[in-house]
Amino acid sequence: MAHLVVTGAAGFIGSNFVHWLCSEHPDREVVVVDKLTYAGNLGNLEPIKDRIRFVRADIADAEAMAEVLRGADGIINFAAESHVDRSLEAAAPFLHSNVVGVQVILDLVKELEVPRFLQISTDEVYGSAPEGTRFNEEDRLNPSSPYAASKAAADHLVQAAVHTWTVPALITRASNNYGPYQFPEKLLPLMITNIMEEKPLPVYGDGMQKREWLHVHDHCTAVWAVWQRGEIGRIYNLGTGDEVANLELIKTLLAVMDASEELITFVTDRPGHDRRYALDISRLTTELGWQQQITLEEGLQATIEWYRDNRPWWESIKSGQYREYYERMYGRRGPAQQ
Ligand SMILES: NC(=O)c1ccc[n+]([C@@H]2O[C@H](COP(=O)([O-])OP(=O)(O)OC[C@H]3O[C@@H](n4cnc5c(N)ncnc54)[C@H](O)[C@@H]3O)[C@@H](O)[C@H]2O)c1
Repeated sequence: MAHLVVTGAAGFIGSNFVHWLCSEHPDREVVVVDKLTYAGNLGNLEPIKDRIRFVRADIADAEAMAEVLRGADGIINFAAESHVDRSLEAAAPFLHSNVVGVQVILDLVKELEVPRFLQISTDEVYGSAPEGTRFNEEDRLNPSSPYAASKAAADHLVQAAVHTWTVPALITRASNNYGPYQFPEKLLPLMITNIMEEKPLPVYGDGMQKREWLHVHDHCTAVWAVWQRGEIGRIYNLGTGDEVANLELIKTLLAVMDASEELITFVTDRPGHDRRYALDISRLTTELGWQQQITLEEGLQATIEWYRDNRPWWESIKSGQYREYYERMYGRRGPAQQ
């Protein structure tokens, strides 16, 4: 069987996806491509490092990507600059990875006749959802941050390539993910690890921004449902309807972890912060028969336990040691290229 290329799989969702794939579909040959930016951590792939081939490359590097895509039976693109706050400080890396990188993949999928390409997008492309509404896949894109705008640009490029060249591509737009291996600058791991370290919990504005939470393992099964049964050219929203305000979520964590609400510290809101994300996922559930398996309550408990059990993993990231460690172990180009 030909190999499947998974990009960005040294990051949070991509690494969980490859773990899931190796355990659920052990026959699949997997090639992981990752540039190892600050968010990429080979430690996320350590337990399955003998099951995969790792290539350190930038998805915008056409030559390197042609090499891995030749003979592949598909590509799933998780690679992206993903942190909204960072996009407010500097948008250029977002345009490079999230826009140029996706066009490079599209051109190669066309040229090398790769049979299937799944672009992983986000609910943030729709912008803020007014109370009482949920966005479906036909709704207009209205991104509010450079991150969301770069992901929306990629979605348009994918649709243009499908329309013009019948490139065999599909798109998923997922809601907020949480679970193991999430970089501790994102809301949930930041709060969980700060609670463990008894540090203040910075809450943007009034904390009433609402998000729809999807456990990363449920995201993996939804991505696989789209990969196997999705229609070329179609977009699929992935979510759960588990909608919670950030402040409420943080108070739940504090209660479960038996810590004081005095740790909560309100800080100036992020400029242009979207108030609410909400997805209509009926296409995923009715057309593809996907079902959520992990409730928010179970998922939060399991995630807290994972961060408790894997303290060295997040402590080394928070202290910046992991990059030094991996460069010492593998050199700057990563293990597969030594
Ligand atoms: N985290 C969420 O809640 C969420 C929700 C919906 C959609 N998404 C999307 O899912 C995907 C994965 O998100 P994540 O949270 O795992 O991100 P992440 O930041 O944890 O990981 C991104 C990975 O991509 C790699 N990367 C970045 N630029 C690259 C490039 N040019 N070439 C090769 N590799 C590159 C990084 O090294 C890192 O390993 C992204 O496309 C994101 O937009 C994320």
